[in-house]
Amino acid sequence: MEMNPVQEKKRVNIGLFLLIAVLATVVVGSFTIKTISSKPDIKVTKQKITRAERDGFKAKVDQMVARYTVRREGDMPIVHPPPGSDIYLLARNYDWGKFILELERGKTYRLHLASLDLRHAIVVYELKLMNRIKPDEFKIIEFSPAKAGRFRIICGEWCGIGHAGMMGTILVTE
Ligand code: CUA
Repeated sequence: MEMNPVQEKKRVNIGLFLLIAVLATVVVGSFTIKTISSKPDIKVTKQKITRAERDGFKAKVDQMVARYTVRREGDMPIVHPPPGSDIYLLARNYDWGKFILELERGKTYRLHLASLDLRHAIVVYELKLMNRIKPDEFKIIEFSPAKAGRFRIICGEWCGIGHAGMMGTILVTE
């Protein structure tokens, strides 16, 4: 049976459509795989925390700020702990501590994370740092900032009226 030109054109168009659909699937698929496989450079350990330890945790934050404040930005101390050291962040409604953390690119830190009240989640998109924190646990996250710059710490877990404003800053120097 002979095909008229219109039918033939239709068939070609369907072929082209299928080809594009397959290509799009492959491209989107490989992007997805890439996103999943490029895991952050972090290692997380989790421990239960007692009330006393949680109170002690706040003292550690204060010690760190007192010891490693190198300069100020307005009334915010900029805290620059030595590479390889322990750093402490205490999440609470609604901040990550009243200081700016300054780290060095490519150096490894042990980030101790605890919550004073509810569930929060630390999120620093650019550093691929994302982790949830509950009030009865603390976490030690070994990580190494891969990028230099000024990055925002946001909260990734709904924690109340001030959730969206629960922000902090991390500076990463070269
Ligand atoms: Cu803390 Cu949302």
